[in-house]
Amino acid sequence: MKFFLDTASLDKILFWKNFDLVHGVTTNPTLLSKESSDPIKVIKEICKIVNGDVSAQVTEKDSKEMIEQAKFLKSINKKKIVIKLPCTLEGIKASKYLANQNYKINITLGFDPAQVSVFKNINISYFSFIIGRVEDFGDSNIENIPLVKSMIMKLNPKIKFLAASIRNSNQLLSAASNGADVI
Ligand code: G3P
Repeated sequence: MKFFLDTASLDKILFWKNFDLVHGVTTNPTLLSKESSDPIKVIKEICKIVNGDVSAQVTEKDSKEMIEQAKFLKSINKKKIVIKLPCTLEGIKASKYLANQNYKINITLGFDPAQVSVFKNINISYFSFIIGRVEDFGDSNIENIPLVKSMIMKLNPKIKFLAASIRNSNQLLSAASNGADVI
């Protein structure tokens, strides 16, 4: 199991690297907007200091535009950049095209284990299943964690289960003990 830091802060990445706990980073536009530098420069810097996958999210809504944006994002660092795509119909279309072109894809936001069905024949690298944010809204996704793992194993074991939006130790323990590949 790996730990990916959900941040765009170089300081936070460098801090947690001291504990060998940064095996990858998952940025998103909101996180990047909190940094003072240009987002693309920040992603470039993150790729320099992280020895692992770095998710960079598209902001376009149409699949063709997502694909063009993905090409640009991948050009930042061909080895490390993972394209984060939304689990919308347009995002799924883009994921099918890009996975066929050997792009690494991180699909977000996973709220329901049934969403994994869509990726039976699309070799995305990561399915991001949101846990903490669901609890922020007064609901729970904890009981669905084993179902995500079992859906992935039954339908497409190539997909890595990324347990996202972790807020506390109970969420971490549930994800780790139920086969999350990445926290
Ligand atoms: O990329 C999605 C992830 O960052 C959600 O995490 O902590 O904002 O709920 P959070």
